[in-house]
Amino acid sequence: MTNILIIHGPNLNLLGEREPEVYGSTTIFQLNQMLAQKARELGVEARFFQNNSEGKIIDFIHKYRIWAHGIIINPGALTHYSYSLRDAIVAVSKPAIEVHLSDIHKREPFRKISVIKEVCIDQIVGLGIQSYFKGLEKLVMHLRGTASHDKL
Ligand code: DQA
Repeated sequence: MTNILIIHGPNLNLLGEREPEVYGSTTIFQLNQMLAQKARELGVEARFFQNNSEGKIIDFIHKYRIWAHGIIINPGALTHYSYSLRDAIVAVSKPAIEVHLSDIHKREPFRKISVIKEVCIDQIVGLGIQSYFKGLEKLVMHLRGTASHDKL
């Protein structure tokens, strides 16, 4: 079985109620349910985690480093400054895809910078919750060795 971690960073627990004009109206519970269904369709097992603390996210990545084959992560604002999260992704040597609901390249200047991007195999932005679904499909294709070589 292929095992995937799906991680949501700070403030994403408030999905659905937090700035819905930017992040949409789907709650994190609904999103995780839909992703779990998608994972079943793809024949992979997904384990979900959301936390508002950088250290807890890093602990989760460490804890599941043997179990997991790959990682989907929306790091929230940690994207823009968390070198310790970046180091954690490198430390566990698993392919990771960075996803964002909004298009971080079209927002405030500080959001355009991702310190995570370089250590991920891809970055998918601006598709709302579809960013996660596309990320999951790409990661599974990558793990099965069927990914096309072009970046997004
Ligand atoms: C986000 C974009 C980040 O800049 C922001 O801090 C978030 C959500 C997104 O999914 O669009 O919390 O990661």
